[in-house]
Amino acid sequence: MKSVVVYESMYGNSHRVADIIGAALKEFGQVSVVPVSRVIDELAASADLVVVGGPTHAHSLSTRQSRASALEAADTSKSKHPHPPLEMDPHWQDAGIRDWLRTTAISNGQSAAAFDTRLDAMALLTGRASRVIARRMTRHGFQLITEPESFLVDSQTRLLDSEAERAHHWAKGLALSVVPA
Ligand SMILES: Cc1cc2nc3c(=O)[nH]c(=O)nc-3n(C[C@H](O)[C@H](O)[C@H](O)COP(=O)(O)O)c2cc1C
Repeated sequence: MKSVVVYESMYGNSHRVADIIGAALKEFGQVSVVPVSRVIDELAASADLVVVGGPTHAHSLSTRQSRASALEAADTSKSKHPHPPLEMDPHWQDAGIRDWLRTTAISNGQSAAAFDTRLDAMALLTGRASRVIARRMTRHGFQLITEPESFLVDSQTRLLDSEAERAHHWAKGLALSVVPA
């Protein structure tokens, strides 16, 4: 099975979840984990499973403006909580999932799944980027094989301890649900 895990990440949490999902999927075949700005159309088009995820910003996908706010928030956080300082993920300045889904996402009807990272609170209050990703991927012809999933961060934007294991199990469940395109 060939899988592609596409992620966007400002502070590294969605990147970390993408890496965990990628490592779990490796048990089932070939995997590429790539930042959304580096996805080559052919890579996604030739995969049996495409997993896409990123942070929830303002109840939805990030925008250029919310990414700028994320940078400001990181600077503020560094002065309030310097140990360890919040670092920006490589590629954070590039185009986001919103741009990719609008312009280039390609599907041959492959199996797909969406995740987000978001604050640890009721989804009704936080919103969930994964729902937006899932809806837009369906429009592009991807076949969603599971409900959108959220992995939670604390108020200092650190992934909760429980989430690495949950992401691992979620990914294994995906691998077992892939439908041949
Ligand atoms: C500008 C901005 C807006 C945010 N809006 C929301 C939100 O509406 N709901 C939520 O649960 N979390 C929100 N968050 C928290 C992010 O979801 C959290 O920082 C993210 O999961 C971190 O992922 P990353 O490390 O991959 O960037 C927001 C964060 C930023 C910087």
